[in-house]
Amino acid sequence: MNDRTMVGAGVSMATLSLYEHTGGQLDRLTEVLGFDPADRRPRELLGKLLGPGGESSLADPPSFSSNVADDTTPIEFSVAFDTTGECAVRVLGESAVPSAPRDFLDSVAAEYRLDTTRLDTVSDLFLPPGERQGPFTLWYSLIFRPGRDPRIKVYLNPQISGPAQADSLVGEGLRRLGIPGAFGPVTEHALPRAGQDSFAFFALDLDRGPRSRVKVYVAHEAADCSDVERAAALVPGVDPLQIREFCAVLGGGKGPFRDRPLVSSYSFVEGHQDRPGNYSLYLPIRSYVPDDAVARARVQAILAQYDFDGEKLDDAISAVSGRNLRNGVGLISHVSLRVGEFGSGITVYLSSEAYRVMPARRRPVLGVSR
Ligand code: TRP
Repeated sequence: MNDRTMVGAGVSMATLSLYEHTGGQLDRLTEVLGFDPADRRPRELLGKLLGPGGESSLADPPSFSSNVADDTTPIEFSVAFDTTGECAVRVLGESAVPSAPRDFLDSVAAEYRLDTTRLDTVSDLFLPPGERQGPFTLWYSLIFRPGRDPRIKVYLNPQISGPAQADSLVGEGLRRLGIPGAFGPVTEHALPRAGQDSFAFFALDLDRGPRSRVKVYVAHEAADCSDVERAAALVPGVDPLQIREFCAVLGGGKGPFRDRPLVSSYSFVEGHQDRPGNYSLYLPIRSYVPDDAVARARVQAILAQYDFDGEKLDDAISAVSGRNLRNGVGLISHVSLRVGEFGSGITVYLSSEAYRVMPARRRPVLGVSR
């Protein structure tokens, strides 16, 4: 980060609270993507999720250090482009009162007609009393689509009782949710590299619909593209070439991806039993580009490949940040490819950068050295 961005950020943000800053970003994001500005539910849910911690001034040090984003902001935005032509805006967030992570849920469950039955079924596994390990306890995803009711998803942490327990927590969780046969194939396809592949998230949709999903996420340390091609092959009909191209265009090659890990996820719905209907690959692009101008160009290339509207991406970026994309890295944090029978598309994750802009890396210099 150069001096100018620091001064600029300091002047414009010092007087804002965390909620005002992220709320403004969310308002602009939903507006540029065609939501009805009179619908205040996105902003209301964001406020409730942050809770009293949202009132803290950005001029003060963060009240706790969240792993949702690199600069400890407990919020991350994403824009999902669907092949149906629809676009969703999502907020990944952690309650700014981490000691009471379920308060948010309890405060909105009735109004948003959430179904917490499945969460209750696995709560003792993933929210054990006493000491908790790993990077988080409970994260939420708020999912907004124009003209539809908001949806909410929870993320649980398979590492909560330590890495040695992760497999059995996930296996038992799947069993209790009625898909016991899912564990074996997932392990075979996504976790063959002991010590390098590990369960990262266990997620549940909280709505009552027939498409309400159970998702398991696997992080692949130092993986090659071939490792995620194998993971993707569990879902019928996924073209390995698409996976390879995604890694090449966004990650700059076929790996190994030794910085932040590639992540796979599988979605299961009731009735489909052991077979996941969808596969997603998440690439932490911020670790593989010098700055956000390069990240943006790569994302534009993959959006063009699938005929998604690149202007929407630029509008979304401007809604979240006014900074020069060259002056930092991590505004575009991840990009994901989603394939399967429950819907396919590309999702772009955008950081709030409420507390900090991560400095750009050096770019290669073009020319002969003298
Ligand atoms: N910040 C964490 C990470 O980068 C968690 C996270 C936030 C994440 N958004 C994500 C992980 C999207 C995978 C995909 O790992």
